[in-house]
Amino acid sequence: MEDQEALKKLAAEAALDYVKDGYVVGLGTGSTVRHLLAALEQRVRAGLKITGVPTSEETAGLAGKAGIPLLSDDDLWPIDVAIDGADQVDPQLNLIKGGGGALLREKIVAANARRMIIMIDESKRVPVLGHTFPLPVEVLPFGWQNTARAIEKLGGKAVRRERNHHVFCTASGHYILDLHMARIDDPAGLEARINRIPGVIECGLFVDRTDVLIVGTSHGVEVQTRRA
Ligand code: 5RP
Repeated sequence: MEDQEALKKLAAEAALDYVKDGYVVGLGTGSTVRHLLAALEQRVRAGLKITGVPTSEETAGLAGKAGIPLLSDDDLWPIDVAIDGADQVDPQLNLIKGGGGALLREKIVAANARRMIIMIDESKRVPVLGHTFPLPVEVLPFGWQNTARAIEKLGGKAVRRERNHHVFCTASGHYILDLHMARIDDPAGLEARINRIPGVIECGLFVDRTDVLIVGTSHGVEVQTRRA
């Protein structure tokens, strides 16, 4: 296993401490969450009873295989804890998410959870968001070029995401514009301004949502909690 994967696994295993019997758990998306689900599977097979709310089809499939029953889209979700990865984290625990394209569902689940736990390897920590990772913005395909120009007026360059030379579509049928910015000095202000543009569905800035950050580092696990 490569170093970064090993550190993600370390963080994911530490996240188990935040899962209690009977909890409804929001399950994020991505490679760190895959490690979490593998660790949860062992606990569930040993008798832990939890219910999941998945943020992607991939996570739903893995959770099902791990023996975790899932709530449906039509249920009301009393989520005790949401656990997810991130693409960048700043010192105030603000995040860029959406590298895997699941940011809309991830934000809905995070917004409806009593606590949010983020697991990362140490490479995701940055002093200021931006620069090394573009900000994903989920937009309606209708008029997307105009939406992209409106977003660029706030700064940066918006590039429509592609996978294998095809336009990438989210689970909800939207496009992702990856907004390349040198630095994001005001994540809350930028999130509000982007989300006010007609055609924008949601952006990958998660501001003031993280309660606990778990970091897998080469010298062990570090935990940072939100300032009161
Ligand atoms: C998916 C996400 C992921 O949490 C983020 O991309 C981190 O992924 P990984 O755990 O694979 O590094 O936001 O939309």
